[in-house]
Amino acid sequence: MKAISIQTYGDPSGMQVIEAPEPEPGPGQLLIATEAIGVGGVDAVIRRGTIGSIGFPAGLVPGSEVAGKVIAVGDPADAAWIGRGVWAFTGLGGGYAERAVAGLDDVTALPDGLSPVDAVTIGSSGPVAHFGLAHVHFTRGESVLVRGAAGSIGIMAVQMTALGGAREIAVTTSSPERGKLLRELGATVVLDRAGQGDVTSGFDVIVDIVGGADLPVFLERLADNGRMVSLGVVGGYPPADFGSALLRSFRRSLSYATMSLDTVPVVERNRVRARNLASAATGELRAVVHDVLPLDEAADAHHRMDAGEVFGRIVLTA
Ligand SMILES: NC(=O)c1ccc[n+]([C@@H]2O[C@H](COP(=O)([O-])OP(=O)(O)OC[C@H]3O[C@@H](n4cnc5c(N)ncnc54)[C@H](OP(=O)(O)O)[C@@H]3O)[C@@H](O)[C@H]2O)c1
Repeated sequence: MKAISIQTYGDPSGMQVIEAPEPEPGPGQLLIATEAIGVGGVDAVIRRGTIGSIGFPAGLVPGSEVAGKVIAVGDPADAAWIGRGVWAFTGLGGGYAERAVAGLDDVTALPDGLSPVDAVTIGSSGPVAHFGLAHVHFTRGESVLVRGAAGSIGIMAVQMTALGGAREIAVTTSSPERGKLLRELGATVVLDRAGQGDVTSGFDVIVDIVGGADLPVFLERLADNGRMVSLGVVGGYPPADFGSALLRSFRRSLSYATMSLDTVPVVERNRVRARNLASAATGELRAVVHDVLPLDEAADAHHRMDAGEVFGRIVLTA
């Protein structure tokens, strides 16, 4: 089968198209003929070698999120899965390929009317945004800032807070064009990356996908009893002493949290994912697909991500 492998970590040109042996489904696993493969921010982090020191091997097939048809099962998985359309999490690799395997806990059946391309656009980002907002107890009527709103997680957070009755939804983004698209999804205030723009009061909730040197500045933008949750660090880690921004504002009772989907019980994660996919099938949630490219063009997809061109998500098709 055709697959993409990372021969050298760093630049996207280190990714090569290879012929790889077809994977076999292990006990309780499903073998999926992939139709759509999500190209996520975490794939770029792995490919850049930023966390390469953890020990990813040369030759890794990246990709964690696929959708397609089940073509075989490993005992004791029910053979009734064969022929069904599914979304699947493949772990930290294995997704950029014509076939992928996933355990039953990591598979969600596709609802009628939802394309595989749309499924891999929201299958992970929807639950991340949902549980991020739940983690900081977002409540109807509150004001929210989504920092780094132009990615797949931010786009979900904007839509979910709009559906959840936020009083105000501010976003940070790098261009007025993106700001306009985010307004169409529910944003009410558009700020630049530094948080400058037409907003006068603090935020009850900040959903942060950026991190980086400015994180303490944004902590100071919380209203009394405000809560910030970090869901990603696309701008790098914050300064080591970022927590002093909270202590300087001790009398305002601010809170800071992180939320990783890895800590959410699998049953909860799958329940919310199934609900998100159903909402996308009815149009209540919009999957924002930046572009669809053939699997062979994975390196180009990564070049475009590195260049900051992507609004929403690039999807590969096998
Ligand atoms: N918490 C979890 O369970 C979980 C699960 C999966 C992934 N993640 C993490 O989520 C992140 C990827 O999320 P994503 O795909 O939604 O994000 P993304 O598309 O990679 O980035 C979101 C947006 O942030 C802005 N941005 C990028 N670099 C920036 C910088 N240096 N300073 C300020 N803004 C910047 C860009 O928008 P503008 O150009 O418009 O500003 C970009 O579109 C990764 O860190 C990944 O590890 C977390």
